[in-house]
Amino acid sequence: MSKRQSLVAANWKMNSNLASMKPLVDAIKAGLVDNNDVDVAICAPSLYLPELEQRLAGTGIAVGAQNVSEHEAGAFTGEISTTMLNDFNCHFVIAGHSERRSMYAENDELVADKFAQIQSAAMVPILCVGELLSEREAGLTEEVVARQLDAVLSKSGVAAFSQAVIAYEPVWAIGTGKTASKEQAQEVHEFIRQRLAQQDSTIAAGIRILYGGSVKADNAKELFSMTDVDGGLIGGASLKANDFLAICRAAR
Ligand code: 13P
Repeated sequence: MSKRQSLVAANWKMNSNLASMKPLVDAIKAGLVDNNDVDVAICAPSLYLPELEQRLAGTGIAVGAQNVSEHEAGAFTGEISTTMLNDFNCHFVIAGHSERRSMYAENDELVADKFAQIQSAAMVPILCVGELLSEREAGLTEEVVARQLDAVLSKSGVAAFSQAVIAYEPVWAIGTGKTASKEQAQEVHEFIRQRLAQQDSTIAAGIRILYGGSVKADNAKELFSMTDVDGGLIGGASLKANDFLAICRAAR
């Protein structure tokens, strides 16, 4: 089949504020006028979703969140619900980013719960998977990625992946300037797709698998050229309009 339409998603993490996001979003908007070839999303801190929604209205650039509670509502001080995200036209929600897994103790089961909650609110999860350097060096990459994937598969079933995006983010490549080689990325992306194909080949062929981890303007093109790499989840380089726009162009 022809390759899936690419998606490039910005993950601002805990960066930017109202003053800096306005020119950033406006420059991205201006640079993407007439873009029909690549899907683009911005995953912002939840506080800024109202502003982001307004600024992106009518542009085709999707609004995304970086995290959400696994609960629908209730006494969960400090948390943000899917209902709240829905108020701001949020389309994508990142689930299981490695920073949440490692620093906020989100385990596979919790990530699977979040994934299910996001879908139950009619939003699209971007499920992050990926191994630590020590796990790669021990030859455990596939085992780790399979475990992370299987937790969601066993809770939500393979059909849920018809309305989801996966991001392969090797932890050792995040924010380190060390990118996976295009062959390393392809190998794991292919493994992920094959694992889904064991249960449903149509869903496996259709799902977008993004690469994340030190994607920059100068390495995006070769990563995105690989058969099973359908775009990127971009951290640091998404905070500079020109860099992010160059990455979007590389995904065409
Ligand atoms: P960097 O692009 O800064 O390495 O971050 C990648 C990432 O974690 C995106 O979610």
